[in-house]
Amino acid sequence: MRRNLRSDQERLWRSLMEMAEVGATPKGGSKRLTLTDEDRDGRNLFVRWCENAGLAVTVDAIGNIFARRAGRDPSRPPVMAGSHLDTQPTGGRFDGVLGVLAALEVVRSLDDYGIETEAPVEVAVWTNEEGSRFSPAMMGSGVFAGVFELDDITQTADVDGAVMGEELERIGYAGEAPVGDREVGAYFELHIEQGPILEDEDRTIGVVTAAQGQRWLEIHVTGHESHAGPTPMPVRKDALVVASGIVGEVNRIGHAYAPHACATVGFMDVSPNSRNVIPGHVFLTVDFRHPVGDDLTAMDSDLKAYCADQAEETGVDIAVKDFWHFPSTPFDADCVEAVRAAAEAQGFAHRDIVSGAGHDAVYMARIAPTGMIFVPCEGGISHNEEENATPEDCAAGCDVLLAAVLEKAGVVENP
Ligand code: GLV
Ligand code: MN
Ligand code: MN
Repeated sequence: MRRNLRSDQERLWRSLMEMAEVGATPKGGSKRLTLTDEDRDGRNLFVRWCENAGLAVTVDAIGNIFARRAGRDPSRPPVMAGSHLDTQPTGGRFDGVLGVLAALEVVRSLDDYGIETEAPVEVAVWTNEEGSRFSPAMMGSGVFAGVFELDDITQTADVDGAVMGEELERIGYAGEAPVGDREVGAYFELHIEQGPILEDEDRTIGVVTAAQGQRWLEIHVTGHESHAGPTPMPVRKDALVVASGIVGEVNRIGHAYAPHACATVGFMDVSPNSRNVIPGHVFLTVDFRHPVGDDLTAMDSDLKAYCADQAEETGVDIAVKDFWHFPSTPFDADCVEAVRAAAEAQGFAHRDIVSGAGHDAVYMARIAPTGMIFVPCEGGISHNEEENATPEDCAAGCDVLLAAVLEKAGVVENP
């Protein structure tokens, strides 16, 4: 098995930096929110590169892009590698992009080496992994894997009322191909770790064994809007005061289930948001994560109990909705081993690691043998314009990806 091939580090880095220019932000990050003009421009650049590499590009009805390099045996399901090109509002240059452009570098390298694979190799770009403009996250891979219905997803709207399906049409990525409904031989995703472990331990490769579970809640707090001057303190029903208590409780729960729990309120909409009006309504979102299912359930129950008590005590209405959930997801043992063996053969310091973030690989794991590779990012910082990774580490991850893809796709010897 060819576990020692090197990809072209400079070509990969140039592509990463060129993509980063699309929606570049003042602090050195990228902003390509799902299905905006910037997302379209990033996709167009990717498609142009794929066409230059002679890949056959198809787009499905949820806007997922697949770029296929033929294998010797067209009847074999493709080995896929990819990730996402959309970003957070203050996104970095690597989250998602690295997995896509490393997969493209894999096929470019196969061309350089003149290698023919038995199975086809496909580079995948999934629509709306981030879940920031349209929620939930991992929409494209979720529809592909049969987790979501296409019609439900295309009807979701952003905060300004723009409808996802219409935005897909507008940017020209509502494709013809049916979503999913086909076999995938194996799926690999390279990603920055988005946490500090690899850097702290001076390791180059994270062999990702699983992704932790997540629960997203949506909470509407409804009090009573009234004048900030004449309304005495004892009679107020201030929705923001109650919402602030919920924020504190979410944070308390995160600490209570340490060391593995994560708990975040990342979005809040205060109404009417006027200095001299007591807030009548607050909408907020909760993001709970834990690798152990029972603990994740307990975090969720603790918050719901707190909300019920607070509603009783304050007379303010608190409506809690279960918005999205996926359980802790182990990756395929063979794919994990392919990644570990590649890291070992290439002499990279590595360790097993559990993903704190959600990834398209989580949904792909439901329908195909799936593995992930992590590389370090500076200070463990991600979802931040200052997100950074070194050219050497990106290339190391790409080399491991190349080896894992070859192991699953098979190499035609003496073609
Ligand atoms: C994806 O970016 C996540 O929030 O895990
Ligand atoms: Mn990502
Ligand atoms: Mn992300």
